[in-house]
Amino acid sequence: MLRYDQVARLIRHPDLRQGSVSWPAHHGITAGLFADWWAGWVLNKEGEDHQRLRRLLNPAFSRRLVDAMAPRFAALATELADGFTESGRCEFMAEFAEPYAARVIAIMLGTSEQDWRPVAADAAAVGLALGVRIRENLPRIEAALARLYGYADALIAERRASPRDDFVTSLVQAQAAGDRLTAAELRDSLVLLIFGGFDTTRNQLGLAMQAFIDHPAQWRLLARRPDLGPAAVEEVMRLSPTTTWVTREATRDFTFDGLDIRAGTTIHLLCESAGTDPRAVPDGRLDITAAGRPPHFAFGGGAPRGPT
Ligand code: HEM
Repeated sequence: MLRYDQVARLIRHPDLRQGSVSWPAHHGITAGLFADWWAGWVLNKEGEDHQRLRRLLNPAFSRRLVDAMAPRFAALATELADGFTESGRCEFMAEFAEPYAARVIAIMLGTSEQDWRPVAADAAAVGLALGVRIRENLPRIEAALARLYGYADALIAERRASPRDDFVTSLVQAQAAGDRLTAAELRDSLVLLIFGGFDTTRNQLGLAMQAFIDHPAQWRLLARRPDLGPAAVEEVMRLSPTTTWVTREATRDFTFDGLDIRAGTTIHLLCESAGTDPRAVPDGRLDITAAGRPPHFAFGGGAPRGPT
């Protein structure tokens, strides 16, 4: 689906479920470390199990927690930018996007910010699972995944030994309480948070930079008006989303705008074409001051809407 209106009507359609669940099987991967981990994602569970995991993971994304961490994120951005301000140039992905995304996850999970390189490399390797060459990359993906499990296990052991007032400790305690989270779900979810937060954020930062390179006047405007930062985030995610598509799968036969869709059909909702659909956004150029932009789909149906 390409058009804004149809994507908007399908993203939470009652006859569709999350479609990513079938992604490994579409590539002939039905068993093994990767397939098991994927099936355990909150994203790929429905109903009660989804709601329960979602309730447990939600605190990691609460406004209160994120606001409290914002000064640390800003200090990190300043530290990284200080590294290349003098030379006046940088390789943005290596010198900013990658360390920033990895260290933000480390801050969120309360792990060592200095050890980000191997974790980031493994998260990036697992990211190959989202590409169409997933099958040929599977050995590399599973080796990296095994290391991320080792990392999650060490983190769990650490919090069991010395609990903190943080999100990971509350997950570990929910598991210890026995009724809300299994040991496997705890490990799977921590690996999902490490992976899900890294690749997406790193690549979205790179895409944002590319969008501003194409629109230098908007970049200069943002420098003068940092209060436009939140709108700038929404605007680059509309125009240049890291999420190519959001996936859904039909749970029963139904007809949509005259198209017969059979149960089991996978539907891809393409974020960039929807976000730049002239019927929804007539003047769709990057404009961080534009008012009344419709919400973009780069977070699928899974995140609170931004300010526009
Ligand atoms: C630019 C950054 C990000 C983008 C573009 C992004 C995009 C997405 C998308 C498209 C989905 C699927 C939603 C759907 O199918 O309706 C999703 C789900 C999810 N993402 Fe992200 N994400 C980002 C950052 C993060 C971060 C930082 C974390 C964790 C630290 C994270 C954790 C998750 C989780 C746990 C889910 C599953 C939610 C559920 O099933 O209810 N994501 N994300």
